[in-house]
Amino acid sequence: TGDAGQPSGEVVVELERLCVEVAAEASRFIRDERPDRVRVAQTKSTETDVVTLMDTASERLIHERLLAARPDDGILGEEGADVAGSSGLTWVVDPIDGTVNYLYDIPAYAVSIAVVTGDVSVAGGWTVVAGAVADPSRRVVHHARRGGGSWTVAEGEGPDSRTGRALHVSDETLLARTLLATGFGYAAETRARQAEVMTRVLPAVRDIRRIGSAALDLVRVAEGTVDAYAEAGLNPWDLAAGWLLVEEAGGIVTGTGRHPGKELTVAAPPSLVDEVKSLFVG
Ligand code: IPD
Repeated sequence: TGDAGQPSGEVVVELERLCVEVAAEASRFIRDERPDRVRVAQTKSTETDVVTLMDTASERLIHERLLAARPDDGILGEEGADVAGSSGLTWVVDPIDGTVNYLYDIPAYAVSIAVVTGDVSVAGGWTVVAGAVADPSRRVVHHARRGGGSWTVAEGEGPDSRTGRALHVSDETLLARTLLATGFGYAAETRARQAEVMTRVLPAVRDIRRIGSAALDLVRVAEGTVDAYAEAGLNPWDLAAGWLLVEEAGGIVTGTGRHPGKELTVAAPPSLVDEVKSLFVG
């Protein structure tokens, strides 16, 4: 790592490439090896918070590839990977984001891989250096590195693919015309609070979408195929890669304070961010 613990430009280019390669491999794996009937292996925080054998297998594959390429980096994975590392870089991994969609064969799930500096356990204490969100159903990988823009490439292509498409957030300015993505947690009390917030949000916007994958919600904000997104209760692995994708596509990602996190994550074009945030903060 170089100045202030940030990796040099050359290293960042390589980190982005690794994000794209490993996300594409995991994407092919979870799509092509999906059993006809996906079984729930265990539940986590509640009965609705499920883990399938494919979540665990995908995380293992990603973990192996990352450690083989970058043995000194840390890894934090949704399904339990927690390696400290000594390089100052940590990989933040969601092996299947949108697990409930995956379970029901609804084609809105993703693999999210980001590499960050700082302490992921501290809200506002970490910065995303590069990230990729692979969408197995659309056979594409969305990727970004800080300062390099947000891009979509075909699955199997590298980050510098000449057929890559640059992403830009929507230019919508009016809340009443905003198509707003949101999501809900797994705990009953959280859902009750979120239902209350929706009584305020739904009458104020064009409509809401509950796509079922936070990573894909953020991708959609980055590519302007929804106008904005807001959700409470996200974990770093749900939002890390998508956060950078939105910022590099010209959007703003924030929370109740300056940073997104458990309390609230809002992702929107600059023209909408304050209004969307105040809708959710109340
Ligand atoms: C969930 C999805 C969902 C969001 C939840 C997340 P998972 O992640 O991103 O859209 O509403 O907050 O926990 O459990 O499918 O990896």
